[in-house]
Amino acid sequence: MPELNVHSVLVTGSNRGIGLELVRQLAGKTNCPEWIFATCRDPEGPGAQALKNLAAEHQGIEIIPLDTSEAFSVKTAAAIVTERLKGASLNLLINNAGIVNQSTLETATPEDMLKVYNTNVNGPMMVTQEFLPLLKKAAQESPQKGMSCSKAAIVNVTSECGSITNLLGWELAHILSYRCSKAALNMLTKCQSLGYAKDEILCIMLHPGWLQTDMGNQAMLAPMTVDEGVRKILDTLANLSEKDTGTFVDLDGKTLPW
Ligand SMILES: NC(=O)c1ccc[n+]([C@@H]2O[C@H](COP(=O)([O-])OP(=O)(O)OC[C@H]3O[C@@H](n4cnc5c(N)ncnc54)[C@H](OP(=O)(O)O)[C@@H]3O)[C@@H](O)[C@H]2O)c1
Repeated sequence: MPELNVHSVLVTGSNRGIGLELVRQLAGKTNCPEWIFATCRDPEGPGAQALKNLAAEHQGIEIIPLDTSEAFSVKTAAAIVTERLKGASLNLLINNAGIVNQSTLETATPEDMLKVYNTNVNGPMMVTQEFLPLLKKAAQESPQKGMSCSKAAIVNVTSECGSITNLLGWELAHILSYRCSKAALNMLTKCQSLGYAKDEILCIMLHPGWLQTDMGNQAMLAPMTVDEGVRKILDTLANLSEKDTGTFVDLDGKTLPW
């Protein structure tokens, strides 16, 4: 089975939930990345304490401020990471940060729709634009043929709630703005996969499963721990290749319908 073998990775929204667990498990690997850029919007706030504790135990974890919905914050973070890398590249960008709002057909407002779209779609778009030079560099400098997450990849963390065919959990929560935003994120990812194919950057939309995080467990029904889910996610990322670019997969690597 192929192993995930990255020198550098960046995770957005890494102070809690899936992002924090991704950083924890990446740092715990025997072949752990040399640079793990764990980004979050408020590194000095109480919500980042768990991430700070983790970073204190692992030399490779570097906490970088990054609010994915703010263009200036994204640009500043890209400049800091570029400087820290001292000429090295970025193999893996995980656009994980996301928000949900309990909106329904009756209660949704234009403001809610725009706010959720801004974080869940504009965020991954802006972050990818700013970190693209570092990803391109990784692809260019890699001796590997084809595409892989170990070489150069963009992983957009989406949701099966945004699948127009499946509408995961409709009977439990309508979450209108969230569903629309994740459907749009899927289109963004497909476009990225076409646009960046010539650069040999793998682009994937990944449904992480229904996991016990603040977001996933609002109805106290999430069936899987974040630890188990993230183990599966990392195994799946290790197995992706160019045949997978532009596809919508779940944590087990199974293709999902749009
Ligand atoms: N858990 C599930 O069952 C599930 C299922 C399908 C998809 N997902 C997707 O998985 C991803 C992670 O979800 P989760 O369950 O870990 O959610 P979570 O526990 O609510 O954590 C969300 C993370 O995103 C961060 N974030 C939100 N807005 C941000 C912004 N503008 N800039 C930077 N960071 C921001 C949060 O930071 P703060 O602490 O600063 O708010 C937090 O670190 C999301 O994209 C979500 O849609 C989750």
